[in-house]
Amino acid sequence: MALDLIIAGAGGSGLKALQVAEDGCEFNGEQLRLTGFLDDNEALWETDFFGYPVFGNANMVKELFADKTIAVSCPIGDPVARKRMIISLSLTNVTFPNLIHPAAIVSQRATLGVGNILSQGTVIQAGVNIGDFNTFNMLAAVGPLAQIHNYCTINSHTMIASGSLLSSYSYVGMGATIKQKTVVGQGTTLGANAFLNKPTPPWSTWVGVPAKQIAEKPSPFPEDPE
Ligand SMILES: CC(C)(COP(=O)(O)OP(=O)(O)OC[C@H]1O[C@@H](n2cnc3c(N)ncnc32)[C@H](O)[C@@H]1OP(=O)(O)O)[C@@H](O)C(=O)NCCC(=O)NCCS
Repeated sequence: MALDLIIAGAGGSGLKALQVAEDGCEFNGEQLRLTGFLDDNEALWETDFFGYPVFGNANMVKELFADKTIAVSCPIGDPVARKRMIISLSLTNVTFPNLIHPAAIVSQRATLGVGNILSQGTVIQAGVNIGDFNTFNMLAAVGPLAQIHNYCTINSHTMIASGSLLSSYSYVGMGATIKQKTVVGQGTTLGANAFLNKPTPPWSTWVGVPAKQIAEKPSPFPEDPE
C-alpha cells in the first residue's frame, strides 16, 4: 500500500524533497508514492515538472484529493512562507510525514516531530530534539543535545553544535556554524559561512566570523512569541 505524496513548491526547493522521495522513504511503514506538485504560480499549473504534474495551488489540491488521505511535504526555503503554506494545507485528510533520505544518519536517541525534510548526508546526533516542519539540506550536522524548534531552514554544510537552541523560523545560511550552547532567537537569519558564538535577539540577521548583527525586523507572528 502506498500513500500519495504531494510536494509544495515546483522549484529548486521542491527538487530537494523530490530527491528524498525518489531515493526512498516511507511513513509509518507505508511507502510514499510521489504523485505531483502544487504551486501558487499559475504559469506552472497543469505543466509537467520533472515528469510529475503540477496540480495547481493548495486549494485546488485540497479539492482534487478531498476524498482520500494524502501526504504533503513542504520544502519552501523561506520559513515564514513555509508556515503559511502549512496552515493553508492543514486538513484532517492531510498528513505531514518526515521525509528522511536513506543517506541521512539520525540517532535513535533523537526525537523528530512531523513534516521535517532531511536531505542526503544530514547527521543528527544523540539527544537532539527536533520539532515540526524544519528542512535540513545536504550535509547539515546537529550535535548532541541540540534543540531545534519549528519551521527552521538549515542549509547545506552547516554545523549546529552541541546543546545549542535554534528557535522557530530561524534560517541558517550554507556553511554556517553555531557554537555549542548558543541560544538562537526566533526568526534569526545567519548568513552563509558565519560563525555564531553569542545569543541572538528575535528576527535579527547576523553575518561574518565571528558573526555580527546587521539587521532586525518585527515578527510576522507576534501571536507566537515562543
Ligand atoms: C545574510 C543574508 C541573508 C543577507 O542578505 P540581505 O539581507 O539581502 O543583505 P545584503 O546582501 O544587502 O547584505 C548586507 C551586508 O551584509 C554583507 N553580507 C551579506 N551576506 C554576508 C555573508 N554571508 N557574510 C558576510 N557578509 C555578508 C553584504 O556584503 C552587505 O555588506 P555592506 O553593507 O558592507 O555592503 C544573505 O547574504 C545570505 O548570506 N544568505 C544565505 C544564502 C544561503 O545560504 N542560501 C542557501 C541556498 S540553498
